[in-house]
Amino acid sequence: MSDLDLRSHADVTESQTAADPEAAPGRPTADPSSVEPSAVAPSEPEAAAGPGDEGPLDPSQAVFELADLAVHYGEFCAVRGVDMTIRKNEITAFIGPSGCGKTTVLRCLNRMNDLVVGARVTGQVLYHGVDLYDDRVDPVEVRKRIGMVFQKPNPFPKSIYDNVAFGPKVAGIRKKADLDEIVEEALTKAALWDEVKDRLGKSGIGLSGGQQQRLCIARTIATRPEVVLMDEPCSALDPIATARIEDLMAELKHEYTIVIVTHNMQQAARVSDRTAFFTAEVNDIDDTRTGLLVEFDATERIFSTPTDQRTENYVTGRFG
Ligand SMILES: Nc1ncnc2c1ncn2[C@@H]1O[C@H](COP(=O)(O)OP(=O)(O)OP(=O)(O)O)[C@@H](O)[C@H]1O
Ligand SMILES: [Mg+2]
Repeated sequence: MSDLDLRSHADVTESQTAADPEAAPGRPTADPSSVEPSAVAPSEPEAAAGPGDEGPLDPSQAVFELADLAVHYGEFCAVRGVDMTIRKNEITAFIGPSGCGKTTVLRCLNRMNDLVVGARVTGQVLYHGVDLYDDRVDPVEVRKRIGMVFQKPNPFPKSIYDNVAFGPKVAGIRKKADLDEIVEEALTKAALWDEVKDRLGKSGIGLSGGQQQRLCIARTIATRPEVVLMDEPCSALDPIATARIEDLMAELKHEYTIVIVTHNMQQAARVSDRTAFFTAEVNDIDDTRTGLLVEFDATERIFSTPTDQRTENYVTGRFG
């Protein structure tokens, strides 16, 4: 944007958009010609304050600041009332029952909801103080900085090498030596290099589920995003592959900011620094259910001394 400039056009990479099996064809991108991060009102210090008693947060540590976020699909309000600050180099977990809006909120963080027909986002999503939904922000640029790993591993039907090199190639890197280096680095960071270094030319689809998911993580980090969003990345994996991905997340958080949706509460408790608990409330008028954020706090507190009874019921297994 330099570090905060979300304006520039770049080719979208498959790994960042088309890889979402639920995504509809993209809408045209907004004219990014004149967004000026400095022109965007900086967040209030209170909004940047961390949960609990940690005192005010250094604004440079706030990656996302969500305020009164709500998402509608057509007339239906899927989730509302989301206020939270997601901090740099932390793992933030979203937990809660099915349908409470975890995926929906996660998608707001890299404008993936733009690709869902009928989705409408209201409220505030600041990314380093810049309104992510400003008309002048280019969603393609956003998705380059904020990558996503999906629930079901979805390698491209290409070689292992090409899966990882795809994004960097689209970004204009052409020299074989440079690409080789990026591929090795991304696969090493994704804890997959040793297992695949002798078969980089083989298809990514031929890997096991756990390996495919690590390949997808390598593909995401090969484009050097700042943030990695993960939507139930271990739900299709066995306990051993899950443990590997969890170890990997703990490693990656030193370099990246990670947001993970998980149904596995042990996983949230093990890997995350902060946890957001969502639930869904029945709307009496039409019997639909709208998700809402109940509590957001340090993970340890959410699991030991939550302030809301609904959180306590959920984390102790007394939900529903
Ligand atoms: N593309 C869509 N169009 C219309 N409604 C949607 C769409 N995606 C999600 N919804 C609705 O929004 C609500 C929240 O869905 P979401 O997928 O965010 O929940 P979730 O918490 O991720 O659930 P799960 O744990 O089952 O993945 C649900 O009522 C869902 O039916
Ligand atoms: Mg979901």
